[in-house]
Amino acid sequence: MSPDASFLAFDGRWVVVTGASSGLGRAIAVELSRHGAGVVLVGRDAARLADTAALLDDAPHRTLALDLTGLEAIAPAIAALKNELGPLYGLCHAAGIVQTRPLASNTVELMRAQFDINLYAGLELARAVCRRDVMTPEGGSLLFISSVYGRVGMPGQTGYCATKGAVAAAVRALAVELARRNVRVNCISPGLVHTEMTKQSFARLAPEHVRKLEEAHPLGPGQPEDVARAATFLLAPGTRWITGADLAVDGGFTAQ
Ligand SMILES: NC(=O)c1ccc[n+]([C@@H]2O[C@H](COP(=O)([O-])OP(=O)(O)OC[C@H]3O[C@@H](n4cnc5c(N)ncnc54)[C@H](OP(=O)(O)O)[C@@H]3O)[C@@H](O)[C@H]2O)c1
Repeated sequence: MSPDASFLAFDGRWVVVTGASSGLGRAIAVELSRHGAGVVLVGRDAARLADTAALLDDAPHRTLALDLTGLEAIAPAIAALKNELGPLYGLCHAAGIVQTRPLASNTVELMRAQFDINLYAGLELARAVCRRDVMTPEGGSLLFISSVYGRVGMPGQTGYCATKGAVAAAVRALAVELARRNVRVNCISPGLVHTEMTKQSFARLAPEHVRKLEEAHPLGPGQPEDVARAATFLLAPGTRWITGADLAVDGGFTAQ
């Protein structure tokens, strides 16, 4: 059976994917495209977005270079996309940052910067995509990328953990609020997947420390594709009775 005939088929529905220039967001965009979604690739770096676009062959896509921490620019950008492409079906908010800082040297500014992109940008995107004159009349599907560190603690990552816990809490509230419009809202909490983000945040760690983190995952660290397959599942029109879920995709890290 071809992917297009499966319950994961998107049949040309458009999904906005943030963080599409790198890591998990890039893999999610590629996987969605393979299942027949049109994908809007969002990130700040146009050249890296073009690299992702090149992985999609001729499948329908559009790139949007935008700093999502400029929250006021989000709604007009989404409205312009709708005018160009037609109604939008989904959103995957995978853009995010992590700042590692022990409590003593942490600052409100550092924590706010993480909230701006990890949480507030995603909520503003959700607001813009869910507008009745933007979203497909059938409803839609929103997915946020949280983290295992929204569930368990990580020393030095108070701000990051707080943003990820807040994402999961916001997802539950939105799922209940938007169900009457047939809009589903879910999140994934990934464990360790080596990406640009982990490369940067591990740069200051001893190799032994990184090995311990890897070993804390019973199935070992994951690949971006592992998260991308789960994301495709949750976003797909066929998983129509799943909402408010927070799916651990973590090789067993939080099962222990
Ligand atoms: N990798 C892991 O182990 C792991 C585990 C759990 C959760 N996560 C979460 O998964 C998500 C993706 O992480 P990743 O590992 O794929 O990280 P990554 O490779 O560093 O990618 C981060 C993405 O976010 C985008 N981004 C950051 N700030 C932005 C801004 N102000 N405006 C627009 N885009 C912005 C970046 O695009 P540009 O730089 O091009 O703008 C990039 O595409 C994050 O939310 C992260 O917290 C990752």
